[in-house]
Amino acid sequence: MFITFEGIDGSGKSTQARRLAEALRTDHNVVLTREPGGSQGAEEIRRLVLEGDPDRWSAETEILLFTAARRDHLEKTIRPALEAGRIVISDRFADSTRLYQGITRGDLRGQVDALHALMIGREPDLTFIIDIDPAVGLARAFARKGTEERFEEMGEAMQHTMRAGFLALAAEFPTRCVVIDGGRAPEAVAADVLAVAQGRLT
Ligand code: ADP
Ligand code: TYD
Repeated sequence: MFITFEGIDGSGKSTQARRLAEALRTDHNVVLTREPGGSQGAEEIRRLVLEGDPDRWSAETEILLFTAARRDHLEKTIRPALEAGRIVISDRFADSTRLYQGITRGDLRGQVDALHALMIGREPDLTFIIDIDPAVGLARAFARKGTEERFEEMGEAMQHTMRAGFLALAAEFPTRCVVIDGGRAPEAVAADVLAVAQGRLT
């Protein structure tokens, strides 16, 4: 089973992906991974896309870079693990490209989808969309700090657009997407996530 976590920056994806991996590890062989990254080559591309000037790449170049990273991640990490019968949990996947590159700088969703169909062609079995007020998410993300701030510097207005976009995506893919209220204590969010995942695993 291939499970992904999506949502705006600071929504709690990494926290919840880690908690779900820990909870499922008692009964399953679990691989916890992330995007951009998750394989050696993709982690190298991660540095190119997340560090530096926010205007460093055009949206079109970003689509290529994120998709190149995803292809390497799929070949080296995700596909081998799924073929070995393991559960793969990824912190972000293609929905992030559909949103971040697809809508933030013009309507490029068609190009994102075309490249995805050509080069990736795999959707998750289950996607958790962690939904949160952008002001809360941004405050959490800035409190965390670091050098990977190209996208977090987009500001709160864009985070509102992204939040609406993720909810629209959940409506577009209702079979695999489940929206979870991330504005609660981590334990409460984790309990909901685990209940849904266990329901799908049985
Ligand atoms: P994301 O991966 O979506 O950016 P993280 O899981 O890294 O989010 O969480 C961002 C920050 O918020 C971290 O410092 C984390 O400890 C904190 N955090 C995560 N979930 C919660 C929560 N439910 N309530 C309060 N703080 C949280
Ligand atoms: P991530 O490390 O998950 O950041 P955070 O924990 O703050 O959510 O992702 C880094 C950034 O990369 C995030 O702002 C979203 C962006 N991103 C894209 O723009 N396109 C993509 O395809 C992916 C996977 C991430």
